[in-house]
Amino acid sequence: MITLKVNLGERSYPICIGKNLLDRSELLTQHIPGNSALIVSNETVAPLYMNKVEKSLAGLKYKTLVLPDGEKYKNQETLNTIYDCLLSNQFDRNTTLIALGGGVIGDITGFAAATYQRGVHLIQIPTTLLSQVDSSVGGKTAVNHPLGKNMIGAFYQPRAVIADTETLNTLEDRELSAGIAEVIKYGLIRDIEFLEWLEKNIDKLISRNTIALAYAIDRCCKNKADVVAADETEAGQRALLNLGHTFGHAIETGMGYGNWLHGEAVASGMVMAARMSEKLGWIKPTDVDRVIDIVERANLPVKAPEKMTSKRFLEFMAIDKKVSDGVLKLVLLKDIGKAVVTSDYTQEALMETIADSY
Ligand code: NAD
Ligand code: GLY
Repeated sequence: MITLKVNLGERSYPICIGKNLLDRSELLTQHIPGNSALIVSNETVAPLYMNKVEKSLAGLKYKTLVLPDGEKYKNQETLNTIYDCLLSNQFDRNTTLIALGGGVIGDITGFAAATYQRGVHLIQIPTTLLSQVDSSVGGKTAVNHPLGKNMIGAFYQPRAVIADTETLNTLEDRELSAGIAEVIKYGLIRDIEFLEWLEKNIDKLISRNTIALAYAIDRCCKNKADVVAADETEAGQRALLNLGHTFGHAIETGMGYGNWLHGEAVASGMVMAARMSEKLGWIKPTDVDRVIDIVERANLPVKAPEKMTSKRFLEFMAIDKKVSDGVLKLVLLKDIGKAVVTSDYTQEALMETIADSY
């Protein structure tokens, strides 16, 4: 097992990464301060892994809640079912919410933990590659609004992240690829050595080589932990983690939540960000080819959906968390392996990028 730390003073917490961690009850129970817990999962993940987590909680007062599966359920209505369950079972302020699932379960359960009785304890047990390399770490929690992705949320850190790499064995290929999009992101924004490693080893990730996957998860979490420790609430550099996300969130919302997976939309968005960076003269055409190549090799889309007209892109991009006083900042590449958050771009470059994205 590898243990990393997210350094946030008194709110620091461990990220445990390894095989069969769900069988090690003490890993979980040592982070539960009270005597009650609610495990939140969904109808796909619960039949696979709920019993392991339940076994660990023997002796505690605990309940399980199984939500419907899908991005389209990451909304306020589903959130309310978590509150209903907590209230009807009289869970108090010392309870712990355990998110067992991918990023959807992690984000919605995290937001419930942040808001129930003004905050209860939270543990993340991510079971997708995407959630193990990204969403379970760093404390971003949210639900979607019909007009914008992750628009209702809070920063709220877990007490621990327990990433059991064995859970990835049951993940569908398409979901594995979606997770690789966020893996590639770390290489592009701040870790050129890792990008070079990915260029050599991406096929191993696709074929679920356990050593390669564990290495990638570790490397991504190290990157994420560093960024979060330096800028927990995204006053500055944390926004770099959103490479491809402004375009990607527009695609997810515009296409209807769940039709394009988050990682797929981010992949297509990263190619758009690279193209735009080239139009601004910051990176070379061969750099754009490099981005396209690694994204394609991960079986991810390099083009935007045609249904996303320029008008639709602009409409959804106007509702982005990087809009401040009416100005949209974008995450673009100053170089391969070096992203910046900037409003220093022309509308012409943006329009051309969208036009060239199909
Ligand atoms: P997801 O949670 O929808 O999971 C993908 C699919 O895999 C679901 O059908 C799920 O039921 C299934 N699944 C999960 N674990 C499984 C397993 N071990 N075996 C078989 N099936 C399994 O999607 P995701 O890609 O994990 O997360 C995407 C979400 O994460 C988006 O809502 C996105 O906005 C959010 N996100 C949040 C952050 C953050 O910092 N909080 C970062 C990135 C993404
Ligand atoms: N996934 C973006 C962030 O955590 O900041």
